[in-house]
Amino acid sequence: MLNAELRQKLWSLVSKTHSNSSLIIRPDNKPSPIPLHNYFAGNIEQHFLELGSGWSEVVLKLAEENVNMGFIAMERKWNRLRRGFELAEQKNLQNIFFSAINFQWFLSDIFPENSFDTVLLNFPDPWPKKKHHKNRSIDQNFLKSVYNILKPGGKFLFATDHFGYARWTIRHLRKFNQFESTSQEYCFERPALPISSFEQEKMDEGKRIFYLERSKPWL
Ligand SMILES: C[S@@+](CC[C@H](N)C(=O)[O-])C[C@H]1O[C@@H](n2cnc3c(N)ncnc32)[C@H](O)[C@@H]1O
Repeated sequence: MLNAELRQKLWSLVSKTHSNSSLIIRPDNKPSPIPLHNYFAGNIEQHFLELGSGWSEVVLKLAEENVNMGFIAMERKWNRLRRGFELAEQKNLQNIFFSAINFQWFLSDIFPENSFDTVLLNFPDPWPKKKHHKNRSIDQNFLKSVYNILKPGGKFLFATDHFGYARWTIRHLRKFNQFESTSQEYCFERPALPISSFEQEKMDEGKRIFYLERSKPWL
């Protein structure tokens, strides 16, 4: 949890965006909910968020293939984010927006509850050393934030090639205990989504990939 002074400092950092692109989500001067209908056309009813979207290959491909769905890519590395929104501009995509905001700082402040049909976290940094586990994205607060911004029936999708991080995430999901229970805690395939270059790299190295999927219960 961030204290008020640190929150304000971090917010003043993230609210300065050095681009005029209309595809960048421009927050107000304080962390406050961004109504998705400010960005997406009225006919768009399904919304997809990728956290740590890297070079944005996955969301860009999905946005091209699903013009009636809205996509948001959150990535803190500016060069990666820029490549994503420049490609989206070249392709004239109207259904994808980009945010440079660190998803661990303000996730549940900036998106209203019940906003997304899908939240994807693909290959977050595994922080393999024990003394660095505290830096892992998955913890109880993070799961709570993801849960809150999902719509009822919405899905949280997670992938990692790191066995220890898969185990860590499964343990946190069991403890969190608010997603629907599932007979299969993980699997080794996820055919429904495009494969990112990072994912392909790991596959080519012969690594096993752990895919997790959890649903928020219907009310
Ligand atoms: C290993 S890469 C995976 C990228 C992409 N998801 C994929 O599958 O190709 C992890 C990405 O998450 C980004 N990232 C990590 N923590 C983040 C955070 N707290 N907020 C925003 N981006 C983050 C990193 O900058 C990096 O681009």
